[in-house]
Amino acid sequence: MDNPPLSTPQAKKITAAYFSPTGTSKRIARAIAGAMAAALNMETADFPLTLPSDRKKPLPDFGGGGALVLALPVYAGRVPAIAEPIIKKLSGRGAPVVAAAVYGNRDYDDALLEMSDILSARGFQVAAAGAFIGEHSLSKKVGGGRPDAGDLKAAENFGKAAAEKIANNSFGNFEIKGKRPYRERPAAAPCAPKTDENCAECMICAQNCPAGVISFENPREISEGCLRCCACVKGCPSGSKFFDDEIYAKFKAFLEANCTARKEPELFY
Ligand SMILES: Cc1cc2nc3c(=O)[nH]c(=O)nc-3n(C[C@H](O)[C@H](O)[C@H](O)COP(=O)(O)O)c2cc1C
Ligand code: SF4
Ligand code: SF4
Repeated sequence: MDNPPLSTPQAKKITAAYFSPTGTSKRIARAIAGAMAAALNMETADFPLTLPSDRKKPLPDFGGGGALVLALPVYAGRVPAIAEPIIKKLSGRGAPVVAAAVYGNRDYDDALLEMSDILSARGFQVAAAGAFIGEHSLSKKVGGGRPDAGDLKAAENFGKAAAEKIANNSFGNFEIKGKRPYRERPAAAPCAPKTDENCAECMICAQNCPAGVISFENPREISEGCLRCCACVKGCPSGSKFFDDEIYAKFKAFLEANCTARKEPELFY
């Protein structure tokens, strides 16, 4: 695939980029970027990568200055496979970056290290990296309501600390939790949400599906490639979308039995 064209330079801007089907990574990206922009006297710019149409837009050009904040959810301890190709097309040209992995209170495993490796390889200088907690895509009982006020405050303080490093041009080496080679991604098991009889055919789910697999003609029709991201489940106004397959039920039960003890953000810089 050809590289998308570069847009206008992001001079004097802190770009908050995120792939965020259920919105938690977006909130963390914005909190970090807002604090950085205030500390560095810059503007913020949003750069969503969630929808297929977002991922076709011209990518920001960091050649003229500015910095990137990139927040991604953790999928199976890794960078989401669907987000990897677009992240690998970003071009840092020496610009600073702050990486945030947002995970559902189980573990972030190798995802933050993987993000940092990809961004370094793309020419960014990693100023700071942080793992934050977001409500689990599959269960409201696991990390429910997060990021909460405390998480957002931690993200802001982290943004301030990163801004200080950027202002002082100090990008010293620091260790990020994780292992290489990264955890293997599990083989993709085909899945699709179901739709109940209360569906009003509002098409919100089709508009918000990051994989573009929900039919706009009939929102009950799901084509191949569902990520199980739960954007459609959590975003349906009538609660009509749901998963009830065995893999989903088992994993949800595992999470609710083992992953409810509160975890806190882990920051590296
Ligand atoms: C397919 C899939 C795999 C996931 N894997 C993990 C994981 O390995 N560890 C974890 O703690 N949370 C995991 N989660 C939960 C998400 O990382 C978490 O809910 C995150 O906050 C979602 O981000 P978003 O709101 O930006 O979509 C997974 C979610 C999905 C959909
Ligand atoms: S968001 Fe819910 S109500 Fe609207 S089309 Fe999708 S399933 Fe139906
Ligand atoms: S159909 Fe699958 S990929 Fe699309 S929003 Fe629903 S869970 Fe996510």
